[in-house]
Formats: sequence, structure tokens, C-alpha cells
Amino acid sequence: ALFDFIAGELAKFIASESESDKFRLPPGRQRELGFTFSFPVMQLSIDSGTLIRWTKGFSIDQMVGKDVVAELTKAMDRQGVDMRVSALVNDTVGTLAGGRYDDKDVAVAVILGTGSNAAYVERAQAIPKWHGPHPKSGEMVINMEWGNFKSSHLPLTEYDNTLDADSLNPGEQIFEKMISGMYLGEILRRILYRMASEAALFGDTVPPKLKTQFVLRTHIMSAMHHDSSADLKVVGDKLKEILEIPNTSLATRKTVVEICNIIVTRGARLAAAGILGILKKIGRDNLRDGEIPKTVIAMDGGLYEHYTEYRNCLENTLNELIGDKLAKHIKLILSNDGSGIGAALLAACNSQYN
Ligand code: BGC
Repeated sequence: ALFDFIAGELAKFIASESESDKFRLPPGRQRELGFTFSFPVMQLSIDSGTLIRWTKGFSIDQMVGKDVVAELTKAMDRQGVDMRVSALVNDTVGTLAGGRYDDKDVAVAVILGTGSNAAYVERAQAIPKWHGPHPKSGEMVINMEWGNFKSSHLPLTEYDNTLDADSLNPGEQIFEKMISGMYLGEILRRILYRMASEAALFGDTVPPKLKTQFVLRTHIMSAMHHDSSADLKVVGDKLKEILEIPNTSLATRKTVVEICNIIVTRGARLAAAGILGILKKIGRDNLRDGEIPKTVIAMDGGLYEHYTEYRNCLENTLNELIGDKLAKHIKLILSNDGSGIGAALLAACNSQYN
């Protein structure tokens, strides 16, 4: 059903082209597609790969282990869409490709949206896993799937542990569950629930709505966190509208904002630490050898784009970690829907008509 939906949308897109469209293909030429697929894939070639596992709340068991390009191709056949997938691209890789097309100094791409991940350009020699011939450039792209990082050095709270245990993918994507947009609001809900139960944060009874998982979405948390009114009116309104908690005191509202701040500060600082990890791996984390090349990091995802406190905290942390001198060489840019554009460019590179 998922792939039929995508094929159906493609059919609608094609049908919307007019006769005079300047991008209309000459008769007999097959349309080609860059397929951004934002899940972990065992990439078998530029245009095939099998799904390793779902993340971000997707769960379609019979797809795991299947070639996602073959599935989309079958769905397109069913809908009579004559198109070939020329490139299967993770969103981080698409963002890297799109960013690099605009600016040759782009070396890293990071997605902070519903999920989180990063990709970067590595020296082929530094990849022990790779046994094939080295590309002429001497470089290859690594899709890190950093969302699945976990370590005994990454302290988890009881809120992280119960969120993970109740999720569709327990034990997986632990880093993602601490830093990405799908989960920040849910961490907030869990903390508020405990404070309501044990410290009567909202009065004598626990507001029933607070029991519903994922009722507090991250964009609502963001609206509360950015409330600059003196009486925290937005916080009051959201608590009423979403959690059906009327008449909260200013002190309670302040507490809610403070918790938002704690959750976001942790997430953004961890994301910045992840970026520093990449800079270290590619030797761009200090000025030991005099100069380092200018390094641009292409950022995409709704969390980074819209959650200002998160973005600011991430940028400040990165500067704090690398220091002022190095900060002049490292730049973060917002690459809005860079992944779609990058996938289209990669599809063009791998066109059957080249
Ligand atoms: C997926 C990655 C993807 C990231 C950002 C994660 O859940 O595993 O493949 O790049 O989300 O969309």
C-alpha cells in the first residue's frame, strides 16, 4: 500500500504536466527517478538496496529484507507509470550531493527532522570494509546511520528507557530517540506525567490526556518553548488545547518551559557532539597543520529549520567545542529539501541516456 501510494502520487504528477511544459520529454524517452528513501538500506548498487529495518514509527514487517527499488518498480507497473528508478538515495546522501553541487566545500550532511542521521565524504583508503576498486577521486560517501548509535558513555534517563521500551523498535535508534523531532515532545510528556503524578504539578489529579503517548508533538513543545509573552500565554493555551489542562499558574508554565529547555539543550548538544565526531574523523577538528580546508556542513530537517532554540544551542555548542579560531573555517548551512534535489542530480548522473 505504501509503494502504491508513492506510485499513485507520481502518476498524478505526470498527469499534471501540460503539453507546453518545457521539461516535457521527447516521445519514447522513459522518465527517470531519484528515489530518496530515508531508512537504513543495504545498498547493493546505485539503483538497488534492501531494507534493513524501519525507523521513526514505520512498521511494515513484510518489507524488511526486500529491495525497495524493485517494490517501487512493481507498484509503478501496477499503476501504469513508465518510470525507472536511476538512483536510490538516503536523504543524508541526497543532502550531501545537493549541497556539494552548489558548494564544493560541503563535506558533511546532517538531517535533524522526524529522525536523524549524517553522511560525509571519507577517503576511500580509510574504509577497511571496502574491498572493491577505489574511485578515481579517492573518496567515498559514508551514510553513518548515526541515529542507531548507543554507548555506555551515553547516559540514559528513565524517560529515555521507558520511551524506548514502549516504541515500535525497542533497543534501536537510541541516539535518534534523544535528539530528533519525533521524540522530544514525547520525552516532555513523560516528564510532565511523572511530575503530575508525584508532585501534583497540575493539581490533585493527573490530567487524563497526559497518559496518551505522542499527544505532545514537538512543534507544540517548540511553540511553548518560544513563548515570549510575560504571562506565558502560549504555554497556557497549549496546555489547555492539547492536554485539556485549564487555568495553569505562571509558576507551572515556567516549569514547563524549563523542562522544554532541558530536553532541547541535551538533544542539541548531543547533535553538536556528533558533528564534532565527524570533523575529528576527517581531521578537520584542529589547526595543528596550519590551515584546514573550509568545511561546510549541509543541514536539513524540520527540527533544525523551525526549532530556533535547538538550532541556536547546536551552533553555540559546536563553536564552543571547536573554539573561535576553527569556527571561522566551519560553516553550517540550511539546505532546504536538499535531499530531493541531490537525489534528482544523482539520478541524472546515472541516467540510461548518458
Ligand atoms: C533513518 C535514516 C534517515 C534519518 C533522517 C533515520 O531514522 O534511519 O536513514 O537518514 O532517519 O531521515
